Amino acid sequence: MDNFSYSDDRLFWHGKDTVALFQQAAEKLQKDFEYAGHFWLYQEEILRERLALLENNLVGCGFYYSVKSQSNLALLRLIAAHARFGADVVSGGELLRTLKAGFPPEKIVFAGVGKSEAELRAALENKIRSIHVESISELKDIARIADELKLIAPVTLRLNPDVEVDTHKHITTGKEENKFGLSENDFQAALKLLGGLPALRLVGLQAHIGSQLFDTVPYIKTAEFLKEKSGIVSAALHVTLDYISLGGGFGIDYHRLEGDAVNFDFATLLTGVRKVLGDTIEIHFEPGRFIAAPLGVLATRVRHLKERSGKTLAIVDAAMNDLIRPMLYEAYHPILPIMRRAGEDKYDIVGPVCESTDTFASARTLSLLNEGDWLAIGYAGAYGSSMSSNFNSRPLIPEVLLTAKGGIRIIRRPQTLDEMFLTENFA
Ligand code: LLP
Repeated sequence: MDNFSYSDDRLFWHGKDTVALFQQAAEKLQKDFEYAGHFWLYQEEILRERLALLENNLVGCGFYYSVKSQSNLALLRLIAAHARFGADVVSGGELLRTLKAGFPPEKIVFAGVGKSEAELRAALENKIRSIHVESISELKDIARIADELKLIAPVTLRLNPDVEVDTHKHITTGKEENKFGLSENDFQAALKLLGGLPALRLVGLQAHIGSQLFDTVPYIKTAEFLKEKSGIVSAALHVTLDYISLGGGFGIDYHRLEGDAVNFDFATLLTGVRKVLGDTIEIHFEPGRFIAAPLGVLATRVRHLKERSGKTLAIVDAAMNDLIRPMLYEAYHPILPIMRRAGEDKYDIVGPVCESTDTFASARTLSLLNEGDWLAIGYAGAYGSSMSSNFNSRPLIPEVLLTAKGGIRIIRRPQTLDEMFLTENFA
């Protein structure tokens, strides 16, 4: 099924007429919360499809959903219902979210370069599957806390394979100069430490080389790298690892409207990785964007039109505090009027935030716009709402789900102004 297509000049999103859908969602927000602004809209059916795609294509592998990409509790709960899905979290907040959403602790892994004392403690007390360790200093912290709590801490070493990937410079992670993971020297030091620290049990090796990847080769190189390291681990510590995780990163073609936005050769990946790692050890992936991006659109309205030399500015009600990807990574998102008019113009689509970078698209050719028109900003489900902020004192906007049964469910209500001020003290 096409992700986005027009029929009779109405935008269809994954088979749903967006004119009717946006209206239903907007009416419900108005009725329940007297809210008339922009909102996130997700489709449960797409979520199910994405999960099934991974389950069916990467047969036998385990998935640890990257919670940072989209962390709404209602969506996490739907993911937690899938047996082969665990969660990859990067903060105490995400850890609590996943537990609340129903992920069993033994299906949660915890990554991140700077976990706090309280976060490490929470991870151990909750008995999660493993802590993905990113420094020697952290390894020592975990050993100390585990001793205090009188338990054995399962740990996984996040290694830095120094693999070159073709993606935006802000989202590569597996290069030596990145802040992530353990270097070769750190790895050697970690082995020495692990040998003498009975409070730690090494259960896995992990590497995440970057995000928005389309090529299987770097994954297979990473598998080779981790295989070699697992041999070194076995020889040094006489342990058999439970799993090897190759991280997340499966890309989304943000430019492609037709088809199902799968641009990844999973068959080649699976064959290649199995050939290297065999089928006795668990193989994990930590996908985020691949699952969450197609799931959601940002529904926003044209507030004002202004003429500028050679182009028109369309000022919409959404802004960089809602969706920051275009501003932070020069990321492209399709911007689609839900009703297409005859004629075209070139538009700069900008938000109300007081920053010149608050621009979703420059000189984008769109069918003619009127003030009040609804637009769908596509593939916005991943790193959209989860990266939102209150910049310019703009409250967080609601999140709406079209359920598999066709119902409209508000899964996050609009934040009120009072809620935004709640933590501040101005007495
Ligand atoms: N595992 C680890 C250890 C990660 O650091 C990440 C993402 C993932 C898994 C999931 O990667 P994914 O499957 O989503 O590519 N905010 C950026 C993306 C940052 C990704 C950070 N790490 C964006 O909007 O493009």
